[in-house]
Parts: sequence; C-alpha cells; structure tokens
Amino acid sequence: MASFVLLFLLAVTGGAVCQSSDSTEPMCYDWGESSEGAVSVLDGEAGSISCPLFSHPSVYNYTSAQSAGHNLFWYRLLEGHDLEQPIPYSPRLSRDRERLWLQPAVANDTGQYICMLRNKSSCSKIAMRLKVLRRDEVIRSTYCDLPVATAPTQELIPMQEGKTLDCPDLQDIAKVSESEPTVKWYYENSKCYEYPFWDKDREQQRTRLRFYTMLTTYQGLYFCTVQYQRRGRMLNFTRSINVSAIYPLRVRKEPTILHPTKDKVFSVRTNTDVRLACKGLLPLVLHNTSREIWWTVDGKRVTAANDRFSQINSLEKNDYGDLTEESVLVIEDFQPEDLKREFNCSVRNAKGFETRRAQLQEEVSLPTVELGCGLGITLLLMLLLFMIYHVFWLELLLLYRSWFGTDERHTDDKEFDVYISYARNSEEEQFVLSTLRNVLENVLGYSVCIFDRDSLPGGTITDETLSFVARSRRLLVVVSPGYASRGSQALLELKAGIDSMALDGHLRVILIQYKPVQRQSLVRELRRARVALALVRWQGDKSKELTSRFWKRLRVELPVRKVSGDGKGSSREGALLRLISQNSTNSQTGLISNEKKTPQKVFSSAA
Ligand SMILES: *[C@@H]1O[C@H](CO)[C@@H](O)[C@H](O)[C@H]1NC(C)=O
Ligand SMILES: *[C@@H]1O[C@H](CO)[C@@H](O)[C@H](O)[C@H]1NC(C)=O
Ligand SMILES: *[C@@H]1O[C@H](CO)[C@@H](O)[C@H](O)[C@H]1NC(C)=O
Ligand SMILES: *[C@@H]1O[C@H](CO)[C@@H](O)[C@H](O)[C@H]1NC(C)=O
Ligand SMILES: *[C@@H]1O[C@H](CO)[C@@H](O)[C@H](O)[C@H]1NC(C)=O
Ligand SMILES: *[C@@H]1O[C@H](CO)[C@@H](O)[C@H](O)[C@H]1NC(C)=O
Ligand SMILES: *[C@@H]1O[C@H](CO)[C@@H](O)[C@H](O)[C@H]1NC(C)=O
Repeated sequence: MASFVLLFLLAVTGGAVCQSSDSTEPMCYDWGESSEGAVSVLDGEAGSISCPLFSHPSVYNYTSAQSAGHNLFWYRLLEGHDLEQPIPYSPRLSRDRERLWLQPAVANDTGQYICMLRNKSSCSKIAMRLKVLRRDEVIRSTYCDLPVATAPTQELIPMQEGKTLDCPDLQDIAKVSESEPTVKWYYENSKCYEYPFWDKDREQQRTRLRFYTMLTTYQGLYFCTVQYQRRGRMLNFTRSINVSAIYPLRVRKEPTILHPTKDKVFSVRTNTDVRLACKGLLPLVLHNTSREIWWTVDGKRVTAANDRFSQINSLEKNDYGDLTEESVLVIEDFQPEDLKREFNCSVRNAKGFETRRAQLQEEVSLPTVELGCGLGITLLLMLLLFMIYHVFWLELLLLYRSWFGTDERHTDDKEFDVYISYARNSEEEQFVLSTLRNVLENVLGYSVCIFDRDSLPGGTITDETLSFVARSRRLLVVVSPGYASRGSQALLELKAGIDSMALDGHLRVILIQYKPVQRQSLVRELRRARVALALVRWQGDKSKELTSRFWKRLRVELPVRKVSGDGKGSSREGALLRLISQNSTNSQTGLISNEKKTPQKVFSSAA
C-alpha cells in the first residue's frame, strides 16, 4: 500500500530526483512541488503552511518520524531570489510540529517553501507555494463583505439532526495563542447575519457554533473571524464554511436503478448507433461519499479503450446530497450478435449495489422511408385524381353514362329525342337550324323535332304543338330576349314543356343560352325555369369544336345513346366522336360546313 501511494505521489509531482548534496548526507527523495496547490494567506492576517509530506499519513507520520530520529527542516525560495535559504525563525515566523506559522503574513512572504524530513540515513523533501494576497486582491463575500483568502470548507448536516461547527484552523491557533481566541460567527443567505441569529436551533458555544436542529433554511455560507493575542499583538483571520443540508441519516441510503425499470425493453435497430440510458439514484452516505453508476458489457466495464462501446455520465439532480445520475451507453453500429450480449447498468455506494440487465429487442424494421414514399405517392395520386376529376368531370360523366346509362328508347314510347323551341325570326334561329339541329341529328344521331319543319300543314297549331312536345324526351329551349313574347309559338312550347314535365316527369326541359340574356328581359315562366333547370351556355367560337364544353354539357343532359345493336363494343357514340374529331381537324367551323353528310331521319326509323 505504501509503495502504491509513493508511486502515486511520484506520478502527481512529476517524478523524484535522487540527489546527494554531500557524501555524508543521505540521498534525498525530492517529491517536487505538492499537487495540493498554492496556500493563500491574507496580508496582515495570521496564516500557516503544513508540510505536505504528512498529508499521506500512511507514508509519513509526524509522530512516528520523530521517534525514528527524523527532523523537519524548512527552507524558502522567495520571489525574486534564486537560492533557497533556511527559514530565519522569529516570533513572527515560527514552527509547530509539521506547521510553519506566519503571525502575521506580510506581502514579501510570497514564494516557494520546502520542507525536508531527514535522519542520518534517509531524507525526503517536498515543495509548495505560498501566496500572500493584498486585501484588494481577494474577493469579498457577497453580503457580509468579509475578505476570505481560502476557499470555503464543505460541511454537510443531516436535516433535523445536530452538529457542531469548528472554525477551520482555530485548533492550531489555540495551541500558539496566549489567550483564548475570540470568534465571531456570521451567516450569509441572501443577506448577512451576525451572531446571534435569533433562533433556538443555532447557538454559539465559546468559539464553536452548535446546530441543535438542522433546517434547510440554515444552509449557506458561514464565516468565522478569529482574533487572538500573541506576544502583545492582536492577530486575526477569517475562514468560511459552506453548510449544506442533506437527507436525515434514517432515510434509506441504498442506491437504486430508476431506469430502465425491470420490464423495460429497449428497441434497437441493427446497423445504427444505439444509445441505452440508465438513471440511478445515489444517496449520500456520510462516512464514505464515494458512489457511481456505470455500464458493463458481458461483465466487463466500458472503458475508453473499447472503441465500439462508450459511456457518457451526467449529473441530473442533487437533491440534498442524493444524486440522480444518468449514464448513457453508446453502442456504435449495433450488430445482430450484440443482441446476445449482456449489457448491465450498475449503481454502487457504501451502503449497497444494484445491477440490471438492459433487455433488448430488435425493432420490427418499419421502413420509414418506404412508408413515407408510399404515403407521398398515395397523396400525389389522390391529388392527381382530384385534379383529373375537376378538369374532366364532364368526360367522366359521359363515359360513365356510356357504360351504365340506360337507353330511354327501351323504356318509353316517345318519338323524338329532342324538341327544339326557339324564338322565330331571331339571331338564334340561324344557330338552331344550322348548328344545333345539324349536330344533334347528323353527328350525335338524335331524332330532332322542329315544329316549323316537322308539323303537317292543316292541323291546329295548339294541338299539334302539345302533341309534339308530349312525344319528345327533351325540350331544348334556346333562351333569348325575344323568346316567348306574348302569344308566340315559343311560349306555347315552353308552357307545354313545363306542364308536361310537372305532370308525368317523362320530359325534361333544358335551357340553352346562345347569347347572354338579362334576367329582367325574360318572361316570367322562363325566369322561374332558369332557376330550376339545367342551363347550357354557348360560348361563341369556343363552342364550335365538338369537343368543347358546350357539346359535352349538352350530351350529358340529353338521353343516353348507347352501343348500337351489334354489341361489338364500338359504340355509335365512339364512332361519332371519332367522326367529329376528324371533322374538327378538317375545318375550323367543321360542324356548319359539314354539308357532305346526308341528313338522317333518325326519328323516322324510331317511329
Ligand atoms: C502516527 O503514528 C502514531 C504511532 O506511531 C499513531 O498513534 C498515530 O495515530 C499515527 N497518526 C496517523 C495520522 O496515522
Ligand atoms: C519583507 O518586508 C519587511 C517589511 O515589510 C522587511 O522588514 C523584510 O526585511 C522583508 N524581508 C525580505 C526577505 O525581503
Ligand atoms: C532513518 O529512518 C529510517 C526510516 O525512515 C529508518 O529505517 C532508519 O533506521 C533511520 N536511521 C537512523 C540512523 O535512525
Ligand atoms: C485583522 O487584522 C488586520 C491587520 O491588523 C486589520 O486591518 C483588520 O481590521 C482586522 N480584522 C478584524 C476583523 O479585526
Ligand atoms: C456550497 O455547496 C453547494 C453544494 O453542497 C454548492 O452548490 C454551492 O455552490 C457551494 N457554495 C459555495 C459558495 O461554494
Ligand atoms: C467506500 O465505498 C466504496 C463503495 O462505494 C468502497 O469500494 C470503498 O472501499 C469504501 N471506502 C472506504 C474507505 O470505506
Ligand atoms: C446483469 O444483471 C442481471 C439482473 O438484471 C444479473 O442477474 C446479472 O448477474 C448481471 N450480470 C452481471 C455481469 O453483473
């Protein structure tokens, strides 16, 4: 054990140099400079340095060294000097056992100090630094405004329990002081309090501060200023103590693994980096505060040397001394065989130990990328379908009708498909007779009735009109301002149509608007009809093409013209559409100039 600590000291001090100053002098082990850091003393205050050789009592023990005939010698190497000199002992600069006292310290005491332990056959020495700080160099405490050269010592007091605080270094001073030192206590917690603190839980007993019952509100920085007399001089120094409350000793102190729980299963994916998080509660045990959380892989601790496994620890919470610490095991490039490994998270403190194996399960590979793509494509398709429907709904409707629509010729005994009603001697007359009639009869194959053409001379106009309308499946009303002026033929036709529609429902009225018409210029019957009936608008040159919206809309409203008798699938409609598209490519006004076609008397064949 001793050799181990020696090696440790060697390591921290940068190696020993064996030297022999003189043939009669023993070789001296030089421990270099102490790893404990510089000692700070405030200018004008009392201070001391302790020989660091004795901070490892298992190696050097002052009492046993004395009895082995060892002597302690002090040297110093002051700032600005290059030769180490023996200390000129004086009332101000004195030594007591392993300590060198400066009562008080002055600014030029700053420098390196060496203590050497020597008997006739063996010798060891170690160096340390002393810094004497000026009063304006030290950071004063926030609220009490006290200059403290040394860092606060830590004191942990269990809640509801008692403890007595000693002012640090006071015991050593008491030995060299000629009278009992006077000590003043201060307490700092968002304000400076000077003793007495006005509660029954904390009481100063001579130089010490006694806590009868620790409360969390008593946490904070405590200061003690010590004043004592030595050889007629008043000397003083200030120390600070950081007091923290911890959980009472009766509270359970065994460490526990909070996460993963016993039945937690980690989902892991092969060929990715996997992170397993373990969280542990590590209660503070006062007599041995060492505690830790760590991972093992197949029983072996994760070390930096193992390149694929690494561990990242982080403190999450310090709850009155009880730490919640997290340790994350990072497994780089997880392999299928890693599933068989034993990954254990363990926690330990002086009171206990717990270990838990992380249960791993290969994640059912949800191909997120493929899934995302699939979803994206589906959405895109839906959007496309929606757009197609929006743009081509008429075409789709026509297609649907051509497949599933019923041919009304089989279900009624009507003679005409279409009865065209229009204002005579108007702009629309030309449109009706040349374009509308022509396309309906010759291209789309409907049987068309136009009163002026198809009525036989001699009959009563009224009776004939009613009879013709009644024998038609659709009444096409070409709306115009002059349409249905009082007492006209057109008004008769319109009334007959609307009555027939209302009566048996076998006739449907369709409005065609050749030119935009003001609502007010229409007769009452038409105005009413316009609201309820389908209205197809002629849009000038745009509507001349057979593939235009006008004709499609109109065909949707007209009876279904389905597959002709041969049932070969080449529907008449299809054939006609081909014909139309040929026509429309042949000439711009294809329909009207289509005079080659011999007018078919379709209606007569149906009759
Ligand atoms: C030093 O040794 C003496 C006896 O040799 C022993 O009583 C004392 O406890 C030791 N001190 C330390 C700090 O180990
Ligand atoms: C240090 O300073 C004091 C005066 O403050 C002086 O008397 C003393 O000689 C100085 N010592 C050294 C080693 O310079
Ligand atoms: C010097 O000290 C060592 C132990 O550190 C001891 O073994 C040795 O006997 C001592 N020598 C003398 C002359 O007392
Ligand atoms: C401590 O001593 C120094 C120097 O003598 C003096 O300036 C300071 O006021 C003293 N502090 C206290 C708290 O007595
Ligand atoms: C006092 O100790 C607590 C933990 O116990 C720490 O959080 C705090 O920063 C310390 N205060 C000072 C001034 O050192
Ligand atoms: C302190 O506790 C740890 C376990 O957390 C143990 O390994 C170590 O030996 C203990 N140290 C002492 C001095 O009891
Ligand atoms: C790992 O933890 C399990 C309990 O979850 C335990 O049975 C096993 O012995 C542990 N393995 C090691 C190597 O500590």
